[in-house]
Amino acid sequence: MSPDTLANPYTIVDQVALITGAGGAIGGAVARVFARSGGAKVALADLAGNPRHHELAEQLRAEGFEALVERVVTELGPVDVLVNNAGIADNTPFWETAFEDWRRGLTVHLDGTYLLTRHVIESMRERGSGNIVTMSSIAAQQGALTGDAAYSAAKAGQQGFTKTLAQTLGPSGIRANCIAPGVVDTPLLHSVHDEESLGRILQRVPMRSLIDPENIATTALYLASPGSAHVTGQTIDVGGMVMR
Ligand SMILES: NC(=O)c1ccc[n+]([C@@H]2O[C@H](COP(=O)([O-])OP(=O)(O)OC[C@H]3O[C@@H](n4cnc5c(N)ncnc54)[C@H](O)[C@@H]3O)[C@@H](O)[C@H]2O)c1
Repeated sequence: MSPDTLANPYTIVDQVALITGAGGAIGGAVARVFARSGGAKVALADLAGNPRHHELAEQLRAEGFEALVERVVTELGPVDVLVNNAGIADNTPFWETAFEDWRRGLTVHLDGTYLLTRHVIESMRERGSGNIVTMSSIAAQQGALTGDAAYSAAKAGQQGFTKTLAQTLGPSGIRANCIAPGVVDTPLLHSVHDEESLGRILQRVPMRSLIDPENIATTALYLASPGSAHVTGQTIDVGGMVMR
């Protein structure tokens, strides 16, 4: 490791990071943490109907960081770090889940992860470096407490996908890892659990509190930075297991 990297191993200076679902709680926190800790250039992707990533891009620009919502390669350069973070959640139990809702869960999390990764991977291979961080979930190992089976199946699929990327792309200098957040204090969490249900869940969480989105973002920064240079094919649980 070079002396510069050793002095500050957890920065991603001058790297172009593409973050999906950046209008959301965790994606927005990742963009802010990446931009503020060493000046990554961040490209924010979300659904066209969600304006919050535009507002975040304006805020980061006002702070002097490079941020944009589209036109990544032409304006910021090829993607160095891809954060597959876009997601949806549902609290319909499996026995009431329509096939189209099952498909939607798989499409957003699994197809989305495939498509974005496929989009950036050739350029990463040509340059001999790249980093893919995918936002999985503790639901992959534990099942979704909401009963959303498509969610847990897709989140487990992301982890298998990531292991294959790590094994096959490591020789090209590309790393791939997942984060498996537990219960993060976001609108998505509150949309599927009421206060009573959250109280019960927190009794099974070692730290007994909801996780700040920024704590997920700093884990993404760790995985994206040279300080984790030999960490690949892993899933980092943040929040501890929800003990049964
Ligand atoms: N909140 C939690 O407790 C929790 C726990 C474990 C994992 N996660 C995962 O973290 C990620 C972010 O979740 P969050 O809590 O910030 O939710 P959020 O709803 O705040 O953000 C998700 C964002 O993804 C966007 N999105 C949805 N479908 C999209 C698509 N097809 N293309 C582009 N953007 C799309 C939404 O518009 C939204 O802005 C998700 O993958 C979620 O499954 C969240």
